[in-house]
Amino acid sequence: MTALQARDVVRRFGGLTAVDEVDLTAEAGQITALIGPNGAGKSTLFACLAGTETVDAGRVLLDGDDVTRLSPEARAQRGIGRTFQRLAVFATLTVADNLLVGAESRRTGSLARGLLGLPSASARHDRDRVEEVIALLDLEGVRDQSAGTLSTGGQRMVELGRALCRDPRVLLLDEPASGLDTEETDRLQVVLRGLAADGMAVLLVEHDISLVLGAADVVYAMAAGRMLAHGTPEQVRSDPTVRSAYLDREPA
Ligand SMILES: Nc1ncnc2c1ncn2[C@@H]1O[C@H](COP(=O)(O)OP(=O)(O)O)[C@@H](O)[C@H]1O
Ligand SMILES: [Mg+2]
Repeated sequence: MTALQARDVVRRFGGLTAVDEVDLTAEAGQITALIGPNGAGKSTLFACLAGTETVDAGRVLLDGDDVTRLSPEARAQRGIGRTFQRLAVFATLTVADNLLVGAESRRTGSLARGLLGLPSASARHDRDRVEEVIALLDLEGVRDQSAGTLSTGGQRMVELGRALCRDPRVLLLDEPASGLDTEETDRLQVVLRGLAADGMAVLLVEHDISLVLGAADVVYAMAAGRMLAHGTPEQVRSDPTVRSAYLDREPA
């Protein structure tokens, strides 16, 4: 079973402990959500898992292997995919070309081969993967448009598509529903459920409680750097510490 785990992870910024001895497990075949108020440490923990932040203590494990010291790229090569809280699509490239960049980045050296104009045995496979993802995310209608011309929701789908083209086994998403309308959020939820059903470990950092309660199998709740609780959405929602730290402050 694929699983991405944080074990006793600590990350400090000067005198501030943004992540304080935190444990989290994202299992294959499940959607795991990480919730908490602004400043809770969610994005910092996410970055520790993706490798864009180093940890001050603790370990990050992928399928039981210690990846704590690996670069983000090395983790990506091992199957950890991610999207960004701020959109990061190539605005002037078409949607299909954005996805192709993702598919090609699976193969180290493919970019150099491409620049030299050398044929690649796997180039066809890359294009096949792009077509699969275009179908999965329902992007046929916009495949030849510049990604920068799409709505925020459309661009988020492109970013998700680019990550999926790398065939990740673990997918990390930081606030994927931000800027999405209700219909787009519903579609994202269906897509994520499908990915989990196919065996992917999906970890969402989310502020949109409705997305989390509707889609997640397991919810982790953080506040002020600490993990307050984890369990089913219902268990976490009714947890008194979580309620006082977070949920009671949300508009009804
Ligand atoms: N690079 C950084 N330098 C200094 N402080 C940071 C940095 N990144 C995050 N923080 C601080 O760490 C805390 C947790 O931030 P963050 O992980 O972004 O929370 P969340 O994603 O839950 O809103 C906040 O107090 C934030 O100001
Ligand atoms: Mg954040």
